Amino acid sequence: MKLPLRDLFKENRSYRRFYEDKSIKTEILEEIVDNARIANSAGNKQPLKYIISNNRETNEKIFLTLSWAAYLKDWEGPERGERPSAYIVMLGDKKISSNYLADPGIAMTYILLSAVEKGLGGCIIATIDRKKLREILNIAEEYEILYVIALGEPKETIVLEDLNENGDIKYYRDDEQIHHVPKRSLQEIIVGRYIAE
Ligand SMILES: Cc1cc2nc3c(=O)[nH]c(=O)nc-3n(C[C@H](O)[C@H](O)[C@H](O)COP(=O)(O)O)c2cc1C
Repeated sequence: MKLPLRDLFKENRSYRRFYEDKSIKTEILEEIVDNARIANSAGNKQPLKYIISNNRETNEKIFLTLSWAAYLKDWEGPERGERPSAYIVMLGDKKISSNYLADPGIAMTYILLSAVEKGLGGCIIATIDRKKLREILNIAEEYEILYVIALGEPKETIVLEDLNENGDIKYYRDDEQIHHVPKRSLQEIIVGRYIAE
């Protein structure tokens, strides 16, 4: 099923609970990274490199280095059975560049949207025990560990909503375990308008 872009963007939420037993094929992970491969890159330097994992044992080890949903104070992250079934670790190749500019953000967007197009979902993780992850995956010092993108078939409902009257941007879960993500209004974020006559 092909979604119009706007629907794809709405569907592209940060999913943190998955059907862990629904594995993601290696070819799918490679297809997703291949989309990131052709993303825009400052100076076309293409300093980003990747490690992919859909291996259960490796996934378990990667999971232990990640921090989940800082605003959900009573939640330690996904339980067994609801954990990601694959990971893409994004690395910066320091031999190519020491300043990755917006490349990681653009590439991660390509990755997440590609996942959504395939009926999957993901979460960007920046809070990582990088030392531990480097050891686990035996990552050479020439690579900077930038982000981990957790992937799987989503097992949660996420809704977007407007900020409340207090302007609180913290996401939260309601009693039905639906995850709510407040977004600022268009009026708030367009801070200048130079309008055609
Ligand atoms: C650069 C970046 C780093 C993030 N790091 C984490 C993280 O370490 N742990 C986590 O659970 N979510 C992380 N997130 C997900 C954000 O919490 C999420 O994007 C935000 O709550 C908005 O939800 P949405 O992605 O569904 O719009 C990160 C997102 C971005 C863009």
